[in-house]
Amino acid sequence: MAHTLFITFGTRPEAIKMAPVVLELRRRERFRVVTCLTGQHREMLDQVVEGFSLPIDHDLNIMRQRQSLGHITSAVLDGIDPLLEAEKPDLVMVHGDTTTTFAAALAAYYRMVPVAHVEAGLRTDNIYSPFPEEMNRRLADRLADIYYAPTAAARKALLAEGASPERIVVTGNTVIDALLATASTPAPPWETKLARALERPGPKVLVTVHRRESWGTPMERVAQAIKRVSEQSPKITFLFPIHLNPAVRDVFRGALDTVRQVVFTEPLPYRSFVHLMKAADVVITDSGGIQEEAPTLGKPVLVMRDTTERPEGIEAGTARLVGTDGDVIARELLLLLTDRSAYERMANAVNPYGDGHAAERIADHLEYRFGLRTTPPADFSGYTP
Ligand code: UD1
Ligand code: UDP
Repeated sequence: MAHTLFITFGTRPEAIKMAPVVLELRRRERFRVVTCLTGQHREMLDQVVEGFSLPIDHDLNIMRQRQSLGHITSAVLDGIDPLLEAEKPDLVMVHGDTTTTFAAALAAYYRMVPVAHVEAGLRTDNIYSPFPEEMNRRLADRLADIYYAPTAAARKALLAEGASPERIVVTGNTVIDALLATASTPAPPWETKLARALERPGPKVLVTVHRRESWGTPMERVAQAIKRVSEQSPKITFLFPIHLNPAVRDVFRGALDTVRQVVFTEPLPYRSFVHLMKAADVVITDSGGIQEEAPTLGKPVLVMRDTTERPEGIEAGTARLVGTDGDVIARELLLLLTDRSAYERMANAVNPYGDGHAAERIADHLEYRFGLRTTPPADFSGYTP
């Protein structure tokens, strides 16, 4: 009988980053693969599931409007437990640092099922930044048995916390698998509003913002910075696929709806978003995944956060940490868009986060772990800090 892998994810980025793993494992047909959505996100998750044609076996459908962290944690724990009892998996796989990740790992631990953590070992030194992701991933790593660390730096962080070296595999980040596969497809037809925006002369700045620790005043400062830059440089167009969280929409729609240079869209399907990144000149974001994707596409990124668990892009020179101070954001953005050499220094296509083969390494390692292969995969060695 094939071993059962129970793969769970709940939000847009987890789905994008687990899609290559699910598809690779299913293609090989060495395991019984059971997928479980927590539904922490709804529309934004469904968009990805549809885009990658992911087969889904269970859906806890837990999302509520303006949900609390307590709701997500308890609903995931309650929802997954009976599924683990019924499916009797040999391994539960979780991804990243969302509350789905932590709660699913805890549910597996309560059933004494080993956990494999994909994207293990990312760290900042501040448990409140990003919040609650820094604690979610630390707790998931405490609960995990296998660590799929994306980079050598993540491996180092796990070792420093006492993880056994034989439990860690450096795989590269699976987001680069998803990105490379998607970026090589033709651009999709744009919705009219975006097509018009892309035809405008002048630089294009792609914006995304959503982090919980930035709700309220920090987001208001970001909105004011965008407004100020729009007033100072009428040629700049901001392309802003806005997150569905009402806490985000209230701030940005309120402040920027009347600013002609800001073009809002609904969250975009992954393929459209990747091609929009390719079309943009600069990305300003607080996203984790986009910090990993932009360097591969050679796009300068201003990271609107106080900390990052992804120092590789900064060391490689493609990303810059600018915080949420409106003056700093406006200054750095204007510098990039007006000083050609400052732009060229950041616009390097580098691949510190992966080489497009992370899912293969994970599948190879799982086969090794379950005795279906005699040798473990070699580590991803694309980048050494
Ligand atoms: C969550 C993750 C965060 C991740 C982000 C990716 C936690 C605590 N946060 O943050 O780590 O970086 O996803 O985007 O795990 N909503 C919808 N439809 C959707 C998605 C969200 O309406 O498809 C609205 C709902 O009102 C929901 C709110 O957004 O209550 C917030 O969603 P939630 O998952 O709690 O937080 P995110 O900020 O999306
Ligand atoms: N993304 C997308 N559509 C959008 C905005 C982002 O498909 O409209 C993708 C993006 O390419 C990246 C991921 O979603 O892979 C990032 O998600 P998000 O910023 O919500 O979460 P984080 O990475 O910060 O956890």
